Amino acid sequence: MLFKAAISVLLVFSFYLVLFGQLISQSCEGIRAIASSCQKLILLADSGSINATKSQITQFKGESGGVSKAASSYNNQSLVNKPPLPNSDTSAIILLAKQISELSTQISSCFNASTHPEPNFSASSGDVPKTPEYESLRASLNDTAVDLLRLVNGPKNTIRTYAFSHYDLAVLQISVERGFFRDIPLQGSIDAGMLADKAKMDKDRTTRLLRFLATRRIFEEVESGSGVFRHTAMSIVMARDRDFHAMVHMQMDEMFKAASELSTQIDRAPYVSDNENSAFCARFGLPAYAYYEQNPQKGARFKQSMDAWSQLDGQVTRLVSGSFPWESLKAGKIVDIGGGSGHISIALAREYPSLRFIVQDLSEQMLSQTKEGVLSLGGRVTFQRHNFFEPQPVHDASAFLLRQCLHNYNDLDAVKITRAIVPALEKCVPGTPLLLNEVILPESGSTARHIEHHLRQVDVTMMVVLGAKQRSRSEFERLLKQADPRYEVVRTFDNPMGVGLLEVHLKAS
Ligand SMILES: C[S@@+](CC[C@H](N)C(=O)[O-])C[C@H]1O[C@@H](n2cnc3c(N)ncnc32)[C@H](O)[C@@H]1O
Repeated sequence: MLFKAAISVLLVFSFYLVLFGQLISQSCEGIRAIASSCQKLILLADSGSINATKSQITQFKGESGGVSKAASSYNNQSLVNKPPLPNSDTSAIILLAKQISELSTQISSCFNASTHPEPNFSASSGDVPKTPEYESLRASLNDTAVDLLRLVNGPKNTIRTYAFSHYDLAVLQISVERGFFRDIPLQGSIDAGMLADKAKMDKDRTTRLLRFLATRRIFEEVESGSGVFRHTAMSIVMARDRDFHAMVHMQMDEMFKAASELSTQIDRAPYVSDNENSAFCARFGLPAYAYYEQNPQKGARFKQSMDAWSQLDGQVTRLVSGSFPWESLKAGKIVDIGGGSGHISIALAREYPSLRFIVQDLSEQMLSQTKEGVLSLGGRVTFQRHNFFEPQPVHDASAFLLRQCLHNYNDLDAVKITRAIVPALEKCVPGTPLLLNEVILPESGSTARHIEHHLRQVDVTMMVVLGAKQRSRSEFERLLKQADPRYEVVRTFDNPMGVGLLEVHLKAS
């Protein structure tokens, strides 16, 4: 059942790449020419005309809702409902191009200022930095560049590209299934016929699929028409990083198949969404967690994907040392509800040597998993079987942690889970925190579209896989008030690209 934990954000990167890529790949030559001019404009940009201010970057890093402004030197609403401007100096296209130029200058100086080499498309290129500064600029540039392309391409081309996305996914699906990434050599090149033999399929379709991918700079043909292919920066990452490959493979396998069932599932049960009434269950005949328990190989791949995800997102590090002040709990006892194998409690116990933890879970399998290092923690991490729909049995805790559990449930069940903690909170010292470690969705339109889109993919993931959902702060507040009107969110620790933390207290009535 650990599988339920991270299903959410895993899907995001691959889908997002695909969607963004869609927007930049156009079949019309005229449009290509315009796009290429825009690209030249970026490359020729003057340096230093606009700088992301220090306060913008702080907002991106900081608590509660800072991402939006930080990520948007480009305003979310700026092009909505505006009449066309007559003068080319002030045309939306020119304004966007200028903003792109300015943002590109700042991004380029991130590379100049660090030892991080600027990326290119060749297989020897590295990845981009993951600093808050870079993430902020990247979000702004994505919004701006994609809007420019939308304007230049026009509505029909834009929607047509979107509506053809499933072919891109189908091609990616075949390339992971048939081992293209693995079988193209890391150095040098391979004839499509030889690759077809390794992939156990015909040469004609292999070549066509490779040429399709090459239009996205995934693999490249050594010379036009040669039928010989080699890796690029995009493809080699799939060959080198097995966890990342596993994540993409899982997306293109069970998640893609489940997602294509969503509309039919809504036809079947238009007003019900839960684990049993989910697209995943409709596609595979079992709720996701039961499916993975019955299919251990797919389960292992899922676990591998989770590792890739947590590496991309840095969420455990953030929980342990970048958000809640755990040291303020002194020698307190923390109850990790639905804590699975206890990996979070173990990480926290290592960092905070005076804290003690009780890891609760319904699954004996989870609780009995081998725990490396738990012995060295001197009995500070213990395990207890508990159903979180039943009243919480620990009444002397310093904090309760509920991590990645609520997003697996619809509102009805999430209310029951949070209500079951109330009797224990009533007996604990006033102000004992309930910590919800979940994705906190931004309010719609309040952040860069690039970021909001990513998080809404995470939300739709939960809809597809478990008939469940991600929530915004106000949705958490509503849900908690339904569970008990005394519940109050006292602060949040946001994570612009993923899992944040809500600190909740039970106030005196
Ligand atoms: C999505 S995982 C999260 C695990 C852990 N908190 C983490 O962040 O890695 C959800 C956990 O809830 C557990 N679980 C599911 N139903 C439960 C229930 N009714 N009572 C207690 N735990 C449950 C699962 O076994 C699983 O370990």
